[in-house]
Amino acid sequence: MAAAAASIPVVAIDGPTASGKGTVAQRVARALGFYCLDSGALYRIVGLLALERGLDLDNGPALAALAAGMQPSFEDGRVLLEGRDITDAIRREEVGRAASRVAAVGPLRVALLALQRQQRRPPGLVADGRDMGTVVFPDARLKVYLQADLHVRAERRLKQLIEKGYSANLTDLLRTLRDRDQRDETRDCAPLVAAEDAKVLDSSALTVDEVVARVLKWYRGD
Ligand code: DC
Repeated sequence: MAAAAASIPVVAIDGPTASGKGTVAQRVARALGFYCLDSGALYRIVGLLALERGLDLDNGPALAALAAGMQPSFEDGRVLLEGRDITDAIRREEVGRAASRVAAVGPLRVALLALQRQQRRPPGLVADGRDMGTVVFPDARLKVYLQADLHVRAERRLKQLIEKGYSANLTDLLRTLRDRDQRDETRDCAPLVAAEDAKVLDSSALTVDEVVARVLKWYRGD
């Protein structure tokens, strides 16, 4: 890594699906005036494109080529790819499932490293995902591992989906989240695990405001 990049602070927020890390990362980034990287969106974009193009979800070379050639942009909360707004498409459950499958493919993870590290720009970056603190930004100034009880996460996801006008039910969501946790935690390549030097925070009984306040306190060292 270039010496200049190493001096740019990173806050890494990792954790399982629906632990609230995306919302927390955005809020912390806003409070610090930092950029924000939603690394899960990159895996979701690859999942979406692979489904659309009929690619095998374990075809390493094809997925890596797809990732190396894509130039997504993130503007005002929207995700754009070659002029197309894919913000809602990448949030669909079937795309989330595809993302979880392609995320187990080593060559794809390597292909996405550069894209993620390019987001490290002054004055700083808040990055959320599964391996921000362990693999992508091991020198992050602060590493947070955000977890929450499976039922709490399923309820939160259900609320989100219903608010967006999608139909969903709790039993299916519990199964989907459990499957996805299992796949993310047990894959060989960059499995979901707290970095040794991460601060672990259980958000089950906390509001978003409380989690954000705790992360900012840690970052500021008090
Ligand atoms: O956070 P999310 O649900 O949007 O992530 C979608 C999938 O991408 C998730 O199943 C795991 C994978 N992922 C990953 O493997 N590494 C990351 N840094 C981010 C997401």
